[in-house]
Amino acid sequence: MMPPYYEFFCPVKILCGRQAVDNIPYELDQLQARRPLIVTDPGVVQAGLLDVVIQAFSGAEAVIGGIFPDTPQDSSNLIVGQVARLYRENRCDALIAVGGGSVIDTCKGVNILVSENADDLMDFMGAYILKRPLKPFIVVPTTAGTGSEVTSAAVIANPERNVKMSFVSPFLFPDVAVLDPRMTMTMPPRITAATGMDALTHAVEAYTCLQKNPVSDAYAAAAIALVRDHLITAVTQSRNETARLAMANSALLAGIAFTNSLVGVVHGLAHAVGGVAHVPHGVANSIFLPFGMEYNLGRVADLYAELLLPLAGPEVFAQTAPADRARKAVSVVKDLKQKLYELCGLPRTLKEAGLPKDKLADIARTALGDGSMIMNPEAVDYDDALRLLQAAYE
Ligand SMILES: [Fe+2]
Repeated sequence: MMPPYYEFFCPVKILCGRQAVDNIPYELDQLQARRPLIVTDPGVVQAGLLDVVIQAFSGAEAVIGGIFPDTPQDSSNLIVGQVARLYRENRCDALIAVGGGSVIDTCKGVNILVSENADDLMDFMGAYILKRPLKPFIVVPTTAGTGSEVTSAAVIANPERNVKMSFVSPFLFPDVAVLDPRMTMTMPPRITAATGMDALTHAVEAYTCLQKNPVSDAYAAAAIALVRDHLITAVTQSRNETARLAMANSALLAGIAFTNSLVGVVHGLAHAVGGVAHVPHGVANSIFLPFGMEYNLGRVADLYAELLLPLAGPEVFAQTAPADRARKAVSVVKDLKQKLYELCGLPRTLKEAGLPKDKLADIARTALGDGSMIMNPEAVDYDDALRLLQAAYE
């Protein structure tokens, strides 16, 4: 399918491999930075991953200007303000995010404030508000799912005004993404599974949403094949470097795909179920993915049929009659969910995720207002959303 017009952009330099973290001081030098602020979270510190980054600076010209180790799971503008103050007090000149989606989004918010010399993030909310490049920004992901290391967006909560602020700008892309197997090895099996399913959902939705394009398709298909070949190994053998690096690449490829196309109904529902009931993002995507695919079958069966190849491999693809390939793709995703449940207890239903049933109507209403719904191939109204939620409940 050729769109009449599309744009594709990814200006992020990628360092990938064992010891990639050790090259951070060189990259800072290339970016003409000398005093980076490291932003991370307590889990990363506890797992000893911050030490890996600190060690990379021994003997380097650049010195660590400060460390913020307390980013919470759901970051907010208050944390962003706190980190921005630390950056200014320590006269830092670059940012290094070491963590998952929350740490990376926090850093994107901090970078807006310190680069624009501003105090209120609300002034920069929305799309394409920023007008000039921000401070040098390096990301070391410690999960393999969100793809935030290669996306141009950030979502940051504003609890005082009870809104989730979203920011989209080509200037929000990090300068460098560092994929080092040492940094994801300590991820427990269930988080490995959930974040891997987030990456798979990014790829499947990027490949089928209305804003897809041939370049994002290539990234999405490559991401799916890596999930097929490596997710189970990453879950069952946490220290398998090949599987960890493959999943880090899958998340990155899927991130590049969806930041240049978009996602769809699965993410719309997952965002709502996260906002209303705090079900983790990857868990929610995993629960909804086959239901979302079934919902879209009437519109994009041909695309799901194509995805059977990266999802299941050439033998299954060849053995499946063309008319059955789309449904087979859905069943492959269902089987993967079941396998992950057996291996590490990844919830298969909203009930298993601990969601109270009386929240479904509220979630359906919230989901309709989510931006992800706009590019879903099939239109979604309140009844559709509620039906999907009920189907995914038990
Ligand atoms: Fe996601």
